[in-house]
Amino acid sequence: NMDHSKMSKDDIKNMGHDNIVPLNSSKGKNEITFPEILKPASVNGNNVSYTITAQQGKTEFYPGHKSNTFGYNGNLLGPVVKLKNGQHVTINLVNHLNEDTTFHFHGLEIPGDVDGGPEQVLKPGEEKTISFKVNQEAATLWFHPHPSPHTAEQVYKGLAGLIYIEDNNNNAKKLPHEYGVNDFPLIIQDKSFDSNKQLDYKKVKNDDGTTGHTVLVNGKVDPKFTFKKELVRLRILDASNARVYKLKFDNGMKFEHIASDGGYLNKPDKVSEIQTAPSERNEILVDFSKVKGNKVNLINEDGKVILPIHLINSNKGTKKSDDKISNLSLNNIHVSPKEKEMKITKKVVLAGMGKDVTINGKKFDKNRIDFNQKVNKTEIWEIENKKDAMGGMEHTFHIHGTQFKVISVDGKTPLEEMQGYKDTISLEPGQKVKIAVKFNHKGIYMYHCHTLEHEDNGMMGQIKVS
Ligand code: C2O
Ligand code: CU
Repeated sequence: NMDHSKMSKDDIKNMGHDNIVPLNSSKGKNEITFPEILKPASVNGNNVSYTITAQQGKTEFYPGHKSNTFGYNGNLLGPVVKLKNGQHVTINLVNHLNEDTTFHFHGLEIPGDVDGGPEQVLKPGEEKTISFKVNQEAATLWFHPHPSPHTAEQVYKGLAGLIYIEDNNNNAKKLPHEYGVNDFPLIIQDKSFDSNKQLDYKKVKNDDGTTGHTVLVNGKVDPKFTFKKELVRLRILDASNARVYKLKFDNGMKFEHIASDGGYLNKPDKVSEIQTAPSERNEILVDFSKVKGNKVNLINEDGKVILPIHLINSNKGTKKSDDKISNLSLNNIHVSPKEKEMKITKKVVLAGMGKDVTINGKKFDKNRIDFNQKVNKTEIWEIENKKDAMGGMEHTFHIHGTQFKVISVDGKTPLEEMQGYKDTISLEPGQKVKIAVKFNHKGIYMYHCHTLEHEDNGMMGQIKVS
């Protein structure tokens, strides 16, 4: 533990936010590719089964330099697992790593015993079959390991895959939805490479959240994306260990924000910037036909280029534009008057930095249940990121097994982009949010900071839903 008494005020200020490594711009050398859609092992009516294997591999991030990486069913990252609402799903989970891992389904509303938290370890060589029924609306979710305290390292080495839930939302059918044609995932991560172009987590690990100099999109360094001057849907996942991005285009163009963590927003929200914290998903529609010239960059708030986009002329006579979709009704999510009046029954205080992070003054203890809640019953949680003498830092709060609604942020109605279902919410020091939380299944679930080093340092609690 750090001895804060020996530090000057400036030292203290320089912790936290200022530990963030500056990100270099993408040089746009490598065309990004997209994960494959995972083929089912079997399909039988409404039953589908898959195999997901965590394995070691090698990835040539830089030509001529192979680095050790982890992946699901491959060398790096993972496939897209497409599921339909109402489907019965069986997944054979296989651990081919030389270390313990778990398979956590982030954002999926399934029973606690198949959610893949830190207690559901598979030892090297082990496999196990889980099954569940999908019971939630269309959304972009993801899966990643959750072994305590090694989540950060395993995600950093490459374990992260996407889950798409599909349903029968009729208006959503009017949006671009052809995978790899007009609907693309962008998995954004930052990593640092050593002089031999190797990924070495232990050398760069930072207890306040490991950030890297190099931006990767879909596992490619110096990424670029070539597309037509047409309307496109981008599903953005921040799968970084700790970095928060504020994404925009360098020509200042507006775009439509259509979905957050748990599914569609009520209607497209026209924005010119989107913030994403670790594990959050945001889907956007961008009309590239409106770009003058043949290039536009997706940039971070500081101007660093995340993804250069090269545009080629569309061969469609009439360019699709987003005008007719900007008024589409996509969802119907409201905080009811009753929910607005309900009293806060759970308080979560996030505090600390580095190794000193806690939730409600405690560190994770697998033998302790911190909260209890009844299944199918909404409760109001208040989450506070406590400012301390040292200022504090941003924390990203996530609850397993549920999609919650944000009732207020610092007492005010949340922005439209926060009014969809969420499973993760990022809080600045001093911020307080109220959320309405309901679990549709029983079991023990984790809630924690999704700055992965904070999670590993014990910024995590357990709730028992019965
Ligand atoms: Cu991505 Cu415990 O979560
Ligand atoms: Cu945190």
